[in-house]
Amino acid sequence: NNYRIALLPGDGIGTEVLEAAWPVLQTVARQHDFTLEGTWLPWSCDYYHSHGKMMPADGVEQLKGFDAIYLGAVGLPDRVPDHISLRELLLAIRQGLDLSVNARPHRLLAGVPGPLRSSAPFDILCIRENTEGEYSGAGGRVHRGGDLEVAVETAIFTRAGVERVLRYGFEQARQRSGRLASVTKSNAQRHSMVFWDEMTDRVAADYPDVDVTRYHVDAIAARMITAPETLDVVVASNLFGDILTDIGAAIQGGLGFAASANINPTGGVPGMFEPVHGSAPDIMGKGLANPLATLWAGALMLEHLGESAAAADLMDAIEEVTVTGAGTPDMGGTLSTGELARQIQAILGR
Ligand code: NAI
Ligand code: MG
Repeated sequence: NNYRIALLPGDGIGTEVLEAAWPVLQTVARQHDFTLEGTWLPWSCDYYHSHGKMMPADGVEQLKGFDAIYLGAVGLPDRVPDHISLRELLLAIRQGLDLSVNARPHRLLAGVPGPLRSSAPFDILCIRENTEGEYSGAGGRVHRGGDLEVAVETAIFTRAGVERVLRYGFEQARQRSGRLASVTKSNAQRHSMVFWDEMTDRVAADYPDVDVTRYHVDAIAARMITAPETLDVVVASNLFGDILTDIGAAIQGGLGFAASANINPTGGVPGMFEPVHGSAPDIMGKGLANPLATLWAGALMLEHLGESAAAADLMDAIEEVTVTGAGTPDMGGTLSTGELARQIQAILGR
């Protein structure tokens, strides 16, 4: 098998972590008798300076020809305002390909201490609705600047949107422990979240083997810190998922580890796989960036392409290194971005 991968390094450490991770993925592919054919696309803030836009007008169309998109990070606020760089590239891709599901694994890699007092192992998959809900952008302001000013931000939940993210969650739960947590705030939001609860019941009827628990978002936020080992698949709306995945990143040791898959569950277009962190201008160009979030995102990409054995080998190789305490400075180690990636590559290549 050959997979065509669009490589979007983007800006800052995005370039550094993607360049470090890509050879590692190619090594694991070789071991599993498939090839990854990468096409580097230089769409970035630099590209913006020479072309006046973040990507070509047909950028999203070009991406449709690939099997997956592997992205570093976008944004250099000193050169291009974030609302332009992120909107014209990242958000344009997410919307253009209708990547409505955002999935993020949260667990501690072997040897990584994490900030929690309890040492009970946890393994959470947060699934966030990525296109509508509280971030739909509907709303406005009246009496601007006056004493009677009102700002309205309307959350929009469609049956199709809620159903597809729930269904994706149930499919994942079925492949994992068989447990799913549905997150709402239906005691306070009596329209959208009651609807979400109804949709959860409706979809659950198709998955009698999955054990569903409903949580209010505040309660599950606390639970992720006090008892994360009691959770498995967590499905949440755009805003709630945004907040819960930041808690997830925190309990797994920080942004250096957090990986994300952006998927269109109806298929037919490539998914986009990326570290959760940004371009980190404060450390760029110094070899300090932790490549593990990007490698983990690479494992999610291999998994999504159907190469589960390769994905598992990659995660094992990562943990064979982290268990020794070796790592980049953010992990308390002394390795550079490239050195850490090469240690993992060496394990895979042996
Ligand atoms: P950031 O995630 O780039 O950095 C936050 C802090 O975490 C910094 O101190 C940074 O040094 C550290 N950090 C991040 N990734 C790290 C890694 N792999 N290894 C070690 N340390 C790491 O967030 P920030 O500074 O708010 O944003 C910088 C730029 O990135 C902005 O333009 C922002 O809009 C953009 N951004 C892009 C994202 C994306 O492309 N998906 C996501 C978040 C921010
Ligand atoms: Mg966030």
